[in-house]
Amino acid sequence: MSTTEDLIGRADLNDLEAILSVSAPDREESIRAVRDNADAIFTWDYEKGARPALNKLYEKAKVSMWNGETDLPWDTEVDQEEVARNNQALSGGFENLDLTRGPFAKWGEKEWLQLGMEFQNWSLSQFMHGEQGALICTAKIVETVPWIDAKYYASTQVMDEARHVEVFARYLDSKLNGHYPLNAHLGLLLEDIIEDSRWDMTYLGMQIMVEGLALAAFGFMHQLTTEPLLKQLLRYVMSDEARHVAFGVLSLQEYYQDLTSAELMERQEFAFEAAVRMRDRFLQQEVWERMGLNPKDVLPLVIDNPNRALFQQMLFTKIVPNCKKLGLLDANEGWLRHRFEELGVIHFEDLTDTSDEYQAFALSDRELAESDVA
Ligand SMILES: [Fe+2]
Ligand SMILES: [Fe+2]
Repeated sequence: MSTTEDLIGRADLNDLEAILSVSAPDREESIRAVRDNADAIFTWDYEKGARPALNKLYEKAKVSMWNGETDLPWDTEVDQEEVARNNQALSGGFENLDLTRGPFAKWGEKEWLQLGMEFQNWSLSQFMHGEQGALICTAKIVETVPWIDAKYYASTQVMDEARHVEVFARYLDSKLNGHYPLNAHLGLLLEDIIEDSRWDMTYLGMQIMVEGLALAAFGFMHQLTTEPLLKQLLRYVMSDEARHVAFGVLSLQEYYQDLTSAELMERQEFAFEAAVRMRDRFLQQEVWERMGLNPKDVLPLVIDNPNRALFQQMLFTKIVPNCKKLGLLDANEGWLRHRFEELGVIHFEDLTDTSDEYQAFALSDRELAESDVA
């Protein structure tokens, strides 16, 4: 069994110094090569529907496609300052903190407003980079999964993810200003997923962890935002995303049944590592740097903010019940259960898992018909 230090490079989960020492990839690079160690797998068993749940998902995906170019109201005027004011809660809200001292002492309304805009730019930039990660990981699943129904479904997800990258990039380019590069912690996680040679690890890292978090975060932002274009964009993306998470749960449920305890332990450790990377990413260190502050001065002040803690926990509302459904919480004497206790997120274990929930996220016939006409 690995130690916390083996898994995430530090013994103390909350060691801020160590978290901030993870450096971002070269910001000037325009491409990044990551070695994919997996074999491409052909199958000669073409029986469609041998896995009925995956076949159903595939058929559903085929009739749920929308067009990012024509189905969203791109002519909407977006007032970034107004969006930032309305989004205050998303950045954690700072009303509980004493900000008259320390690095914020000189800040006035202008700086706080700028911070709100930076948070929005940062969040949507990381979503965009995560969507590209999903595009690449799902193309990898097409190659590596041995089941034909899963290859078929994954191919529809590749198309979905292309659309997601496209709409987030367009939103950032045409409605906001100031992209952020890939966050270092998210980058480490994406590289770990892509480098792994085992096909099921792509699913666990991407469909269960990254997309599980995205589904929760998109839901939160969708509820919160008053900006109509972003609201509709997120609504459309979420309808796809819920299917993607279900794809992960349905595939891994079958595969994990035959794994040994030692093999399950590796999956539990991987899930824990991914959870920590994603939590670390939400320290948003790049935003503080862009605002001219040293994250080491700021984070100790904002990290214990109750609003922030609540937001961070909320990100795990899909991940924890899905891990439970897969048997990952309780295998090996509840190893992952204990880790999720340490992260303060175990209380979500009995929320609805996403294997069926995707139907609730589906676009209605009316929404799809409207998008045809639009
Ligand atoms: Fe996506
Ligand atoms: Fe997705």
